[in-house]
Amino acid sequence: MKTETQPFTSFNPDGLKLFEDKGISNSEKVRRIMQLTQDLSSKKIANLSVLDLGCGEGVYTLEAGLKGAKATGLDGRENRLKYGREVALSHGLHNVNFVVDDVRNVTFEKYGTFDVVYLLGLLYHLDEPEVFDILKNIYSVCGELLIIDTTIGLSTPLTVKYEGQEYFGVKYTEHMESDNDELMINKRIMASIGNKESFLPSKKSLIRFLDTLGFSSVLECYTPFEHNKPESRITLVAIKGKKENIASYPWINGIREDDLAKRIDGARVIVPHVLGHKHSFKAKIKLRLDKWLDKRGFKLVKKLKDQ
Ligand SMILES: C[S@@+](CC[C@H](N)C(=O)[O-])C[C@H]1O[C@@H](n2cnc3c(N)ncnc32)[C@H](O)[C@@H]1O
Repeated sequence: MKTETQPFTSFNPDGLKLFEDKGISNSEKVRRIMQLTQDLSSKKIANLSVLDLGCGEGVYTLEAGLKGAKATGLDGRENRLKYGREVALSHGLHNVNFVVDDVRNVTFEKYGTFDVVYLLGLLYHLDEPEVFDILKNIYSVCGELLIIDTTIGLSTPLTVKYEGQEYFGVKYTEHMESDNDELMINKRIMASIGNKESFLPSKKSLIRFLDTLGFSSVLECYTPFEHNKPESRITLVAIKGKKENIASYPWINGIREDDLAKRIDGARVIVPHVLGHKHSFKAKIKLRLDKWLDKRGFKLVKKLKDQ
């Protein structure tokens, strides 16, 4: 049966109440996500397919749906998304669909692809190593853009290995060992499902993994503003574009990031001639030492932990 999308431009009071109930600061979040979607996708929102993972009540699903997108909200808890489903129904939004499922089951084979995928407030509820597999699957269902809003690890006491690469972050306790299912699933409704601890990667590690997956650009959003957003919370947009080939430095095309870093770190640094320049005593000693080492085929390298 063919279903027509209603050209709604505003929510009725039922719909507005769902958004009001989320609190006033949620207004900035919805504004930010919608602006990024419109600014960075190749089509108008009305022509996009959107998958909102861990959608909760579905504020982003509903907003995108009201603008005409084919929007799917997915959450592991029925009691989280039933409110959104009622609002979609009361607005006749046949283009909006809510699904109860675990994000672990989101695969290309099961769901196909969506132009835009939202991962808002969910990534930090997942644990390693499965979070890496989940992100891999999300990459496969993402057509153009993946928008992530997440808490990151500001401290990085933990190093984890995935497919030969090291990633840094910190663990967060979601549930206690003694907690029962009723508490974990039905009471603590904003928390993780199926894991008692979660892994918060550092910003660098998360971006590095998104790069490894194949996204062509990863951007961080500063505006639209979110007042009071803590330093530990970021919005990233990963773009699945075509990788651009560079004519001016042909060797850079297709090189692995760690090989490129090594190549750049190992490059000879051309320093200005000492004579005629004012250098501090420390800088002069460093220049002499570098020259001395260089002649003998050595180089001083500061080993930094790439967090
Ligand atoms: C902090 S809320 C974020 C809700 C919404 N995205 C927002 O930003 O308003 C996290 C949501 O993720 C859902 N969730 C947690 N773990 C999940 C999992 N493994 N699969 C699917 N949903 C999950 C929770 O039920 C909850 O609704």
